[in-house]
Amino acid sequence: MQINKIMSYTFDKEDLKQIDAIKAKYPTVQSATMPVLWYAQDKFGHVNAEVQHLVATTLDIPESHVHGVATFYTQYYKKEMGKYVLDVCTCFSCQVCGGYDMLHYIEDKLGIKAGETTPDGKFSIQEAECLGACGYAPMLQVTNDVYVNHLTKEKIDSMIDGLKEDKLPEYEEILPPQLISKD
Ligand code: FES
Repeated sequence: MQINKIMSYTFDKEDLKQIDAIKAKYPTVQSATMPVLWYAQDKFGHVNAEVQHLVATTLDIPESHVHGVATFYTQYYKKEMGKYVLDVCTCFSCQVCGGYDMLHYIEDKLGIKAGETTPDGKFSIQEAECLGACGYAPMLQVTNDVYVNHLTKEKIDSMIDGLKEDKLPEYEEILPPQLISKD
């Protein structure tokens, strides 16, 4: 049973060609772990234990190394996720600016907890470490893509309404504080 599951994840000839091209960019094979995990996630939608095993055997590196990299970053999905993954930052600045209030609001709204996926497969919620937008706290990221900054309940309502219709939130241009006019 386990073997069948592992066999369901394979790289074809074209994948192996692409992976060889990735490997050629790095001085050691281990250095290619992150981009090859990204490649695998693009193909399979996640990098669960079976995909991590496939990456390790393809690169001929220890599975423990691949597992260590995959589990360090929330950006690598360790299981099947919803179509839209809401990574809500609850670290440092976001936490003091209401990150947990925003997280709990989303949980209540979608009827799931962080780490879960809605039954229709549309949304997953994750609690994320700092996403590097501390100046725009509290914030979240949608499926490793667009950031939604300065979160409010109203902003979350409109974001979720949009995503239900497969409309991604627009990128927000926010000037750094030194460029904002004080007039
Ligand atoms: S603390 Fe949330 S982006 Fe840095």
